[in-house]
Amino acid sequence: MLTVTDLNKTYSSRRGDFAAVDGMSFDVAEGELFSIVGPSGAGKTTLLRCIAGLDTPTSGTVTFDGVTVDGPPREFAVVFQDDARSLLPWVTVRTNVELPLVKDGSTAAEREVRVTRALEEVGLADAAHKKPSQLSGGMQQRVAIARAIAYRPKVLIMDEPFASVDAQTRADLEDLLLRVRAETGTTIVFVTHDVDESIYLSDRVAVVTRSPSRVAEIVDVPLPQPRDQIATKSLPEFAALRAQVFARIRDMVRDAA
Ligand SMILES: Nc1ncnc2c1ncn2[C@@H]1O[C@H](COP(=O)(O)OP(=O)(O)OP(=O)(O)O)[C@@H](O)[C@H]1O
Ligand SMILES: [Mg+2]
Repeated sequence: MLTVTDLNKTYSSRRGDFAAVDGMSFDVAEGELFSIVGPSGAGKTTLLRCIAGLDTPTSGTVTFDGVTVDGPPREFAVVFQDDARSLLPWVTVRTNVELPLVKDGSTAAEREVRVTRALEEVGLADAAHKKPSQLSGGMQQRVAIARAIAYRPKVLIMDEPFASVDAQTRADLEDLLLRVRAETGTTIVFVTHDVDESIYLSDRVAVVTRSPSRVAEIVDVPLPQPRDQIATKSLPEFAALRAQVFARIRDMVRDAA
């Protein structure tokens, strides 16, 4: 459904060229939860921006349903690490979540149901009438997540979306993501630094190298669904996958040294 082919992204400045992403290729299947783990500065955000049509690759292509992505597709929603900044400060939480839905032809009654549900899912039903500035950073991030979920995208692209919330909320949001995927079949591309999180959530995990970044290995995660924070993470298979990903990362660090 989503195909990345030989994607390169080089940033040019007066000091010269810097290759952030170098020849990355992979496919993401419809309904798949595909995550990307790699060291800081590896080019993960650069890659996601190219996939989302927010940035243009220097060479290579991204296609969605066979069509080249050359701008943000209507079917995509993106959540960045610090997405609180993307909320409109002068309207309520509810309006922030509702605004992207206005353009898709839904009725006010349908939007009401979708927005209420999404805010409940992220635990912010009581904050609907507040302004973003009246919420904590982690709560604002959850508004951005609710906005993406309420939109019901075909493809949800997330860049470290849970980094600013506490451990219990993070676990709840991971399970929310798995529930949304199970209920709607949304295709999800998820960047994280957290190896356990990537394995817990994913069907496959791509381990990427430092810049200029490439795919070092794509690890299949055949753990049973539905997943459970305690039962899944206690499986010997979970520990084996975790060891496999950590070993790959350690090899990369050694190679770089
Ligand atoms: N607009 C830009 N101009 C020049 N260089 C950039 C630009 N954006 C990113 N870079 C460089 O490209 C490299 C990859 O950055 P990117 O933000 O994609 O990494 P990342 O893997 O998302 O890192 P992190 O895990 O810390 O978020 C970095 O060395 C960064 O300095
Ligand atoms: Mg990043």
